[in-house]
Amino acid sequence: MDDLKAKYLGQIAEAADEAAIEAIRVAAVGKKGEIALMMRELGKMTPEERQTAGPALNALKDEINSALAAKKAALADAALDERLRSEWLDVTLPVRPRRQGTLHPISQASEELTAIFAEMGFAVAEGPRIETDWYNFDALNIPGHHPARAEMDTFYMHRAEGDNRPPHVLRTHTSPVQIRSMELQGAPIRVICPGGVYRADYDQTHTPMFHQVEGLAIDKGISMANLKWTLEEFVKAFFEVDDVELRFRASHFPFTEPSAEVDIRCSWEGGQLKIGEGDDWMEILGSGMVHPKVIAAGGIDPEVYQGFAFGIGIDRLAMLKYGIPDLRAFFDSDLRWLRHYGFAALDMPNLHGGLSR
Ligand code: PHE
Repeated sequence: MDDLKAKYLGQIAEAADEAAIEAIRVAAVGKKGEIALMMRELGKMTPEERQTAGPALNALKDEINSALAAKKAALADAALDERLRSEWLDVTLPVRPRRQGTLHPISQASEELTAIFAEMGFAVAEGPRIETDWYNFDALNIPGHHPARAEMDTFYMHRAEGDNRPPHVLRTHTSPVQIRSMELQGAPIRVICPGGVYRADYDQTHTPMFHQVEGLAIDKGISMANLKWTLEEFVKAFFEVDDVELRFRASHFPFTEPSAEVDIRCSWEGGQLKIGEGDDWMEILGSGMVHPKVIAAGGIDPEVYQGFAFGIGIDRLAMLKYGIPDLRAFFDSDLRWLRHYGFAALDMPNLHGGLSR
């Protein structure tokens, strides 16, 4: 039996690969292997002989099995070492060029609409996002007690204790830039004011920060007809169609009189948003003739000048144009999402610096 042990342990030590290990296993401890055959001989032995030979054979079998397992593991380790030695990566090689940056849909929509209004003679004006109570409300004919203040879900800034001045606010709309522009340049005036605005609101079509573009035209003899034409031209150019149905609904804003909200025809079939067709309407803007008190607050004589104003939701426009159903995706998504909606790399001319790479 010692010979047997020496023979197999010797073979195992020599085995060069898994196939050799398997062959030894079959020959030694397989069902018809040498040890199995010897086990069969036990029946022919005297009980005394069997009492020593039986356990000895079992022990031999165990020993061979564990030698096989150990060798198998050693071979696997060696194979891994060999792969680690032969396969390697040169991490200093330059990567394949891949364009990473893309314009965010909201930036892209802003640039597109800025270009369209520029062609109609509107310059761009900007104002601060942290506004005074005066510009955001009072100057726009929204006094302290007015219910519109509550409707706007305003974020108020903190004042030090004992400081009783009205708190600053995160502007709830871009309309304060109307006042700032009038103060700055007087009449006549034609500006748009794109930018972020804030309201405590959150669902599929509302986020606490969103974007508007304000439009303001002040001159002698401006009427609601000018407003309607301007908006129709804009919507057609923005959505690149010959005709888009707009719905003007009589409405109320403290800073315009008369006022109208404007919806655009669309459909949401199967979660897919389409503009210009279907039975749904999406509100995209508020508008109206600038209230005389607002013109006066901007330092312009309302007896001489009239004007129209509008405030368009840029995020809404981008959702409609690019078929994006959930507004919240603008804020918590990454490049893969942008690519899904067809926003490739920065390969288009844009206002952030010509043809960028
Ligand atoms: N400021 C209004 C809003 O945020 C929109 C608006 C702008 C309405 C200008 C009329 C004129 O809802």
